[in-house]
Amino acid sequence: MAKIICLAQSKGGTSKTSSVINIAACLVQQGYKVLAVDLDMQANLTTGLGIDPANLEQTMHALLTNPKVKAEHIVVKTQEKIDLLPADVDLSTVEFSIKEIAGREKILARKLRPFVGDYDFCLIDTPPSFAITTLNALSASDLLLSPIQPEPFCLRGMKNLIQTFELIRDVANPYLEMLGVFITLYQNNLLAHRELAETIRQDWGDKAFETVIRRRSGIEMAEATAIGRSIVNYKPSSDLAHDYSALTKEIVNRVQA
Ligand SMILES: Nc1ncnc2c1ncn2[C@@H]1O[C@H](COP(=O)(O)OP(=O)(O)OP(=O)(O)O)[C@@H](O)[C@H]1O
Ligand SMILES: [Mg+2]
Repeated sequence: MAKIICLAQSKGGTSKTSSVINIAACLVQQGYKVLAVDLDMQANLTTGLGIDPANLEQTMHALLTNPKVKAEHIVVKTQEKIDLLPADVDLSTVEFSIKEIAGREKILARKLRPFVGDYDFCLIDTPPSFAITTLNALSASDLLLSPIQPEPFCLRGMKNLIQTFELIRDVANPYLEMLGVFITLYQNNLLAHRELAETIRQDWGDKAFETVIRRRSGIEMAEATAIGRSIVNYKPSSDLAHDYSALTKEIVNRVQA
């Protein structure tokens, strides 16, 4: 049975989507079978894996709103050898479409659990807000993984996330656990980053991963994304490929411990 890991962080632009793509690509390199799930109406995970939502008949919106649609109806294969449940902009209307449905925060859990048996890992990308999609992601997951940018807004975003995590454990998914947090977009030349990284390590103790994802050229990331590739396969010798590979090894060790 797959371990289902939700990447979430309420501050936007903290590399959630980039991390899903690159951790998933590292897991595939290590021989694991991986499913990625796009729960963000921006569909950055979908396009970042080289899939154009305009060419798809059905996406995550259909899965969440139509009782007859199953995950196997919408899953697509990507060139990174990551299977994907894709999103498109229709996901923006899902909140309205399912507002009358009892247990609407558990729709994804019901659809995903019977489907993930063939996979080793399932990574869920979420939007930078606590929309019904994020609640569905947390309800469906075994583990929560959060990228933290060493900036004050992001530390505040973490507090909101923990409140939501506890609420979901109370009302929808008592099995949800914190896998951990990792520091991202890190610039060692900035004193503020070094100090905030220290604060994050003190606050999170052994839940903070050792590996830090450095901020590197946004151009390399953008080039990889533009052709639907992970940085770990597009530029295997880059610092970011090294960082994501080390982080993924830590994640696997922690999941299997
Ligand atoms: N380590 C990095 N170094 C440099 N640029 C990065 C790094 N990680 C991500 N980026 C870039 O930062 C931007 C935001 O990343 P990304 O889209 O992954 O964040 P996100 O948390 O998913 O954003 P959103 O909250 O909008 O969903 C993107 O342009 C991405 O290419
Ligand atoms: Mg994103």
